Amino acid sequence: MTQPTPIDQLTARQARVEHKRLIEEIEAHDIRYHQEDAPIISDADYDALRQRVEALEAAFPELGGTLFATRVGAAPSEKFAKVRHAVPMLSLGNVFADEDVEEFVARVRRFLGLAEGPLAFTAEPKIDGLSCSIRYVRGELVQAATRGDGFEGEDVTANVRTIAEIPHKLHGAPPEIFEVRGEIYMRHVDFATLNERQMAAGEKVFANPRNAAAGSLRQLDSTITARRPLHFFAYAWGEVSEMPATTQHGMIGAFKSFGLPVNPRTVQCHSAKDMIAHYRAIEAQRAQLGYDIDGVVYKVDDLALQARLGFVSRSPRWAVAHKFPAQQATTILRDIEIQVGRTGALTPVAKLEPVTVGGVVVSNATLHNEDEIARKDVRIGDTVVVQRAGDVIPQIVRVVEEKRPAQSHAYAFPETCPACGSLAVREIDDKGEVDAVRRCTGGLICPAQAVERLRHFCSRNAMDIEGLGDKQIEFFFEKGLIKTPADIFTLQQRDEEPGRMQRIRNFEGFGETSVRNLFAAIEARRSVALNRFIFALGIRHVGETNARRLARHFGSFEALRKVCAAAAPDSEARAELNNISGIGDVVAEGLADFFIEPHNEAELDRLMREVTPEPMEAVKTDSPVAGKTVVFTGALEKLTRDEAKAQAERLGAKVAGSVSKKTDLVVAGPGAGSKLTKAAELGIEVISEDDWLARIGEGG
Ligand code: IVH
Repeated sequence: MTQPTPIDQLTARQARVEHKRLIEEIEAHDIRYHQEDAPIISDADYDALRQRVEALEAAFPELGGTLFATRVGAAPSEKFAKVRHAVPMLSLGNVFADEDVEEFVARVRRFLGLAEGPLAFTAEPKIDGLSCSIRYVRGELVQAATRGDGFEGEDVTANVRTIAEIPHKLHGAPPEIFEVRGEIYMRHVDFATLNERQMAAGEKVFANPRNAAAGSLRQLDSTITARRPLHFFAYAWGEVSEMPATTQHGMIGAFKSFGLPVNPRTVQCHSAKDMIAHYRAIEAQRAQLGYDIDGVVYKVDDLALQARLGFVSRSPRWAVAHKFPAQQATTILRDIEIQVGRTGALTPVAKLEPVTVGGVVVSNATLHNEDEIARKDVRIGDTVVVQRAGDVIPQIVRVVEEKRPAQSHAYAFPETCPACGSLAVREIDDKGEVDAVRRCTGGLICPAQAVERLRHFCSRNAMDIEGLGDKQIEFFFEKGLIKTPADIFTLQQRDEEPGRMQRIRNFEGFGETSVRNLFAAIEARRSVALNRFIFALGIRHVGETNARRLARHFGSFEALRKVCAAAAPDSEARAELNNISGIGDVVAEGLADFFIEPHNEAELDRLMREVTPEPMEAVKTDSPVAGKTVVFTGALEKLTRDEAKAQAERLGAKVAGSVSKKTDLVVAGPGAGSKLTKAAELGIEVISEDDWLARIGEGG
């Protein structure tokens, strides 16, 4: 073979020509190897061809990405067959702290009764991929299976055969039956290229190299697996007819001699101190490895001792995984995006320059809220430390201030909703504390909240529009037919406009009758109880009870609206709201925010053209029981409890459930018990149901 020209002396054109020729050559070898089982060159020569292509691609990036597309697989199978593992594939116990490693060594020694004397372990990276068991009979690869539940996995033989690094025939003199186990994984560079390709093709993008490896291996069509650059490290075994070594590290040596890839960072250790030192060394190299690892695995080296130690439940007593802690990485904060939740909460999301953190590519992180941004002084353009722990949403830990660009300025959190432009406010609670969350007040018109608001508007205790359930609302919203509550009432008119192309009755799932019923249900709600209507608007802190209080107090929607729209802080109108029994400042503020927001005003005008809330008899503030706290107890004979309660409230009384110092009046019927005793103790006036009716002018 003539010596190839050194890569750095090639012109781009020469590189392209050679690259093309090599790819064709490799493809031809692949077909002979995979499909005809008749290779014409040695594995070493084949590997040299691939290495040359890799080197060309590294020097001439414009050639990249084609090499791994060159192993051809078998025809697709219908579905994976199941494979029962001859020896179960178990898992490992985890430890995190150095002391746990010492405890592991001490435990092993205790179990073996080996207080002193030499005891060797191996320490090797824990690869973050998926485990696979590959069976060789007389040196030939006959079957490969995933771990599955540990006892039964899936037959992925055809796919594993496409992995260049896994020999179809073992070298040297392997045992007759030899089941090798190890990890299939994907390298970072290949992962990035694969995702780019996937994205360009509009296909699924993988979250991390592990998922990409698993997704690639578990393809029904092995020609797809063949196009995915997978790699393998052998570290364990299943059924073996005759052991080629008596130690763990000896087995690794045997794997290597059979032509199987093994991890070069596997060492022998003689104490917990050694093991921890190796763990630190691997941790320090982690970022440069080019593939994901999530810890270091320690194993008792002597296989006879392994056998004595055996297993507890589904993990070996002779091995343990020393996991890395939650990982951090630094990257650049490109932007802060404000997302509006379904309830109007504005949530800041950090848009990051993508970075791999603990094996996952992270491009978004939570910033929690406005105060958090201010506290950490996070600015757009900053270099930030991102952390991921387990499955939680990545977080910004801190800013690397030394790297802050010269012209940066503190982040100003928006005071209007990015989805609808309405004012966004932070509430102040009863204790005067400002809510950490800023909320959009444009509830009626905000597209981010629309579906949720419409659902609430139509729900049973609100407008109760039959035929407009969650599914229908979502459907009409998506079709653009109902965006706001007022749209519900113009739906029929729009649907019946002459010349309309797409009628509701022509949509799947709607027929002539269901459309007619829907329109009838909507019509029936053009007139609605005032309290229901107020509740339906979804004003913050205005639930059913407060809606009833407001309806009773104001008697009409217009009266309510007028006062609320004028209820700026410290105004007379705000004072009136505060004086309504049961309405505190938090509710008053919610009302003011809602009615003052101009976007809501316009929608309310539209809605009022469609719907007529029935006026309610307003509460009398001059009644003899106005402002009094009343407790009903015992059986009432002329009124139901609910009627008595509603009536008392209409007259401006507050109805309480138990007697206390604040109680002004107890109305007692037959069978009244402890409440009566309590009233007597506190010297509270007790009257009968008839007395009550007389007092409020309903008696006789
Ligand atoms: S030894 C009987 N060594 O970790 C236990 N496992 O949590 C045999 N893994 O399912 C496993 N790297 O997928 C071993 N160097 C390594 C490993 C490793 C990754 C995975 C393997 C296993 C899981 C256990």
